[in-house]
Amino acid sequence: MTTISRRKVISTLATSSASLALASFLPVVEASPQTTAPLAKAFQGQHTPKPLPFDPAKLKGLSEKLIRSHWENNYSGAVKALNTIEQRLAAMLTDKDLPPYIYGDLKREELVRTGSVVLHENYFANLGGDGKASGKVLDLIKQWFGSYEQWEAEFKKTANALGGGSGWTILSYNQHTSEVHNYWAWDHMHNAPMGYPLLVLDMYEHAYHMDYGAAAAKYIDAFMQNVNWDEVNRRVEAVGSRR
Ligand SMILES: [Fe+2]
Repeated sequence: MTTISRRKVISTLATSSASLALASFLPVVEASPQTTAPLAKAFQGQHTPKPLPFDPAKLKGLSEKLIRSHWENNYSGAVKALNTIEQRLAAMLTDKDLPPYIYGDLKREELVRTGSVVLHENYFANLGGDGKASGKVLDLIKQWFGSYEQWEAEFKKTANALGGGSGWTILSYNQHTSEVHNYWAWDHMHNAPMGYPLLVLDMYEHAYHMDYGAAAAKYIDAFMQNVNWDEVNRRVEAVGSRR
């Protein structure tokens, strides 16, 4: 319930005798300084978008307009939404009458936006290269798929299965099974448990429709030409140090 001080009411209302009489019937609640505890880290909403790690004008087969729109509207939009959600969760926590299922709606949104932020950051970071696989990731691919060509065929087939809809295709190292697989993900929340992303491909239509319309396969081919395999190898090293 909102409470106000009698002094404030008196100063706000006109100085007529009627107003003063009204104020005399209001409950007396002395004004006190606002005491706001600092938000815990989980609710601070301080995420900031990471800048594109490459020149978007220099990708092969993916226009600058497409990449900039994707970064600004979809990725940065998810970052802003996640910040808002975290802060709203903190506010809702103080409402003792709030039903848990209402809180759950926002917790679901927290998971959606977190997945979007993480996967988009991995996606943009693994673009801007020459598309030529090398190093430890190439060894891993050969170990688990027999050849680069067989891996690429499966990666593309998985991606094409998501054409015309939404989702992600992710080459992952599974930290639980110690296996390497191409995982199919229907949305931002749909990841293999314990899958550490090595190569991430955005298959939402917003990632290609501006350039290719519904021709998802052409977008996938263009993506493969721009993979930054140095970044993928950095992730292989990072997950290797956790084993
Ligand atoms: Fe996207």
